[in-house]
This record gives sequence, structure tokens and C-alpha cells, in this order.
Amino acid sequence: MPTFFLDDREVAFKEGQTILQAAMSGGHYIPHLCWRPELDPHSSCRLCTVIINGRPFSSCTQPALKGQRVECDTEALVAMRRAVTQMLFIEGNHHCPACEKSGRCKLQATAYLLGMQNSHFSHQFPVRTRDLSHPTVSLDRDRCIRCEICVRASRTLDGKDVFAIDGRGIGSGLAVNSPSGLLKDSEIAPEDAAVRLCPTGALMAKDQGFEVPIGDRLYDREPLSVVELREYKARKALHG
Ligand code: FES
Repeated sequence: MPTFFLDDREVAFKEGQTILQAAMSGGHYIPHLCWRPELDPHSSCRLCTVIINGRPFSSCTQPALKGQRVECDTEALVAMRRAVTQMLFIEGNHHCPACEKSGRCKLQATAYLLGMQNSHFSHQFPVRTRDLSHPTVSLDRDRCIRCEICVRASRTLDGKDVFAIDGRGIGSGLAVNSPSGLLKDSEIAPEDAAVRLCPTGALMAKDQGFEVPIGDRLYDREPLSVVELREYKARKALHG
């Protein structure tokens, strides 16, 4: 198999794999929030940025090339990822201690992984709406990081097209495709991939609070990188 270098680690890859896919297959974690193995890459969060020949690339979209030298865990890149994560925290309203997703939230776990100690930037405290109209699914836009995983998952995995991004830039937000614009009039169901794959507490199934106690949750006992690499390996074993 051809190989490339991820920092000083030699990584084998299959033709057509991206740098992120090859790294994950080889057991090397690159932080990411908008990428999911079951969805096409979106390249919006920029957390997976690596440097090739002095230029930044999203590793979730950049194809692996033979002999390529890829900088990944340099001090500057880790600092950049930490700053991006801090920006995600300050541009929304994330109250981790009071959030049911705490301990199984990828944004929170990414912050821990990157050694984020504080928000650094000034909080913007945007005014965002919640949609609690549906009997079994809640939407809290305060916690949305606009990764569009739900948009893509609803369309391609659930076959429903329940979500879209409305507006542009800082004013953009998650919209619900239903006649009233409310979840209650959409086809959403709590078992949908759109709900299951939401990395934060933006979309959650109702009536399932505190089934797993704080301290015993997915990322409470192991870091995100370990959990994700294990899940990726299991998925590859199942689907190839
Ligand atoms: Fe690559 Fe978000 S995971 S840009």
C-alpha cells in the first residue's frame, strides 16, 4: 500500500482515501466536528486542518497522496484548533454543567482533548430560539454549531430532508422544513440519524434524561480520540 507521513508517523492508505480517513484507519486521530464516516465531508468546522507544503488543507477532503508530508499535531495547529473550539463556544450559548448531553457531547469532549481551559474570547450571548413543540424530539439552537450533520443525515440517511441552514454568516441558523417551521409538523423521529448523530445537545430525544449518570458517560472515562478510533475501527470491520 502507498504511504504518507503524518508528522513523523508513516500512514498506509488506499487509493481514494482522504488524509483523515487514512489517519483514522491507521489509528491516528485528527480532531474533527463536521465530519462523519457515513456522510460526505462538509469541510466547514476546519478543526481537521493540516499543513501540506506550508499551506492549510482540510484533511477531511484532501486526498492522501503517496510520499506526502503532512503536519498535523504541531503546536501552531493545536493552538489553532483550540481557538476554533473557543470560538464555537462563545458564538453560541453552551452551558455544559446544565446540559443533558454533558459527557457525551463532541464539542465538550473536543475542548477537553485540546486542553481548552477557558473561552478566551468574549461571549456573544446570541438570542436563539428553541423548538420544544415535538412530543419526542427537542431542538435547542443555543447548542447548535452549524456543522450541518443533521441536514446531511436527514437527507441522505433518513430520507426526510427535515433540516436546512437559514441565513448567512453569523446570522445563520438551523431551520426546520415543515409548513409551520416547527418540529411538530415535520417527519422527525427520535431514532433518526439526524438526532442520533448531532454532536452537541442541539437535537435530542426527549424523555431520556440522565439514563446514564454523570461520570459514567461516553467521554467521561475515555477521551474522545480513543472512543472515536474504536468506533471507526468497529464500523470498518462491519462495513469495510
Ligand atoms: Fe474537516 Fe470539519 S472535519 S472541516
